[in-house]
Amino acid sequence: MTTQQQDPHFPADFLWGVAAAAYQIEGAVDADGRGRSIWDVFCERPGAIVRGETGVLATDHYRRYREDVALMRDLGVGAYRLSVSWSRVQPDGRGAVNEAGLDFYDRLIDELCAAGIRPAVTLFHWDLPQALQDTGGWLERDTAARLAEYADIVGRRLGDRVAMWMPLNEPVVHTLYGHALGVHAPGLELGFGALQAAHHQLLGHGLAVQALRAAGCGNIGIASNHAPVHAASDAPGDVDAADIYDHIVNWTFADPVLRGSYPAPELAALLQGPVEDDLAIISQPLDWFGINYYEPTVIAAPDSEEGTAGVLEVDLPPGMPFRPVALDGYPRTDFGWPIVPDGLREIVQTFADRYGDSLPPIYITESGASFHDGGPDADGRIRDTRRIDYHRAHLTALRQAVDAGVDVRGYFVWSILDNFEWAAGYQERFGLVHVDYDTLERTPKDSYHWYRNLIAAHDGRA
Ligand code: NOJ
Repeated sequence: MTTQQQDPHFPADFLWGVAAAAYQIEGAVDADGRGRSIWDVFCERPGAIVRGETGVLATDHYRRYREDVALMRDLGVGAYRLSVSWSRVQPDGRGAVNEAGLDFYDRLIDELCAAGIRPAVTLFHWDLPQALQDTGGWLERDTAARLAEYADIVGRRLGDRVAMWMPLNEPVVHTLYGHALGVHAPGLELGFGALQAAHHQLLGHGLAVQALRAAGCGNIGIASNHAPVHAASDAPGDVDAADIYDHIVNWTFADPVLRGSYPAPELAALLQGPVEDDLAIISQPLDWFGINYYEPTVIAAPDSEEGTAGVLEVDLPPGMPFRPVALDGYPRTDFGWPIVPDGLREIVQTFADRYGDSLPPIYITESGASFHDGGPDADGRIRDTRRIDYHRAHLTALRQAVDAGVDVRGYFVWSILDNFEWAAGYQERFGLVHVDYDTLERTPKDSYHWYRNLIAAHDGRA
């Protein structure tokens, strides 16, 4: 059973959610005219994904979405954060609309609304249509305009029922892993050259916000990955290295959106294009700001004697002015990530301090942990006590930030289902619901029941 600790309590209008993303759960990659995305292609690259796994079938959510929405309805969540697959809607990433692909989201959203669940829609959760990659992907300025065109299409079709919009998910991870280090699609290893892809994603965000508003859509934000960055020691080299890293992974992605500027002129100088004009577009006022939080980072100088470990799960190319080091003294998830609930309190407090009155309300658009839960016991239960402890501890830390005056409006668990964890494949399980990948059978874990009770204790849906 769970530990004896108490669950935190939030205001009655706090939004309880769950999250997932198209390529990680849908499968059906050839169905109804869907085009290829960069993840379809990347998964075919030998050695790219653990055990050579792919999202070809995933959890088969494309066909089982009614069952999954029923699970969410019984859970009692107020919102479900889903992503739309761009290549279902525009197989070539531009121009012609594939109505059959759009119809899927129409049905899914109707199903959610009928279940009393608010749809929160991410437009781009890393699965760029391959046709756009073939013309340069996010290194090409035009891709930003294509995101806006796609936003307009989806906004007009679904906007009457979508409660929250996010043009982008975690542009920092897509930049770093996909374009700098080559461990995610599209598999580019550009080092600092990846910053151009970051800039174009951010420009796409701003243009998509404009397009959504023009299409009559409101309640627009972003789902951006953020976490505290600490220096490995007080040595000036470590402190400077941590500062550089913090600027890159946190403020390069939040300052343009919330302040209309890049945090360091040295970074902005690496970018091509009319950067100042672009920043005016990128900083469209938002209705809320979404933070995805997983783990803090400890950074040392490149020549520091601190040991490199874990954080990026990949070696940095030579010549980088910082080095992630192991964060000792904390328990870890089965993915190897340190469990630091206070980092969630710290990062939302840091946002409140940094942006003051220009910070809109915060939602935690992802929080979660992978534990290698086995299948159901003889009695049909999956006793994922550590996941319950994880969420309880993170919510307790978040509650402290709320008590300190930070305006946090909701929390989305990553994820409703076990799913395709990108380069780590299916071994990593973040779900409140277990998926048997042989039978595709869904089994709610103990954490699902715990979350349901927690939501019910808050009087159900906000
Ligand atoms: C963030 C990403 O948005 C999501 O796709 C991923 O599965 C989780 N983190 C866990 O790594």
